Amino acid sequence: MFLNRYISLLIFGLVLLMSCYYDKEELLYGPSLPCTDSTGTISYTAKVVPILQTSCYGCHSGGSPSGGQAMGNYTADKAMALNGKLLGTITHATGYSTMPKGGAQLSACKIAVVRKWIQAGALNN
Ligand code: HEC
Repeated sequence: MFLNRYISLLIFGLVLLMSCYYDKEELLYGPSLPCTDSTGTISYTAKVVPILQTSCYGCHSGGSPSGGQAMGNYTADKAMALNGKLLGTITHATGYSTMPKGGAQLSACKIAVVRKWIQAGALNN
C-alpha cells in the first residue's frame, strides 16, 4: 500500500518534470516541434542556405540588394544573424520589416531551423 503510493508519486513527479522540459523546448524552438529538420546540429550549408535561397536571396543578393541588405554569402548571413535582423524579420517581430517582402511568412519549422542555427553561434558548418 505504502509502496504503491510512493510509486504513483514518483511517476507523477516524472510526468511533471517531462512536461516542464517540453514547455521550455517549445519556448525556445517554437510550437512546431517535433520538426525533423530542426533536430540535431543545424548545418548552415545543408539546412539554412536552402531556406534563405528560396525566400531571400532573390531580392538580397547581387550588386544592389533590396534595402541595402546584402545576403547570399556566409559573412553577410552571419552578420545579419548576429545583429538580430534575420530572426526579427522572419518572425515578424516589432521594429523589423516583415520578410520575405510580399510573401507568406516562413513555416514554423523553417523558422525553428534558422533560430537553432543562430542559437548555436551561426557557425559556418
Ligand atoms: C520580394 C523581395 C524581397 C524578398 C523575397 C525579401 N526581401 Fe528583405 N527587403 C526587401 C526590401 C524591398 C527591403 C527594404 C524595405 C523594407 O525594409 O521593407 C528589405 C529589407 C530587408 C531587411 C532590412 C530591414 C530591416 O527591418 O532591418 C532585412 C534584414 C531583410 N530584408 C531580410 C530579408 C530576409 C531574411 C528575407 C528572406 C526570409 C527577405 N528579406 C526576403 C525585399 C525583399
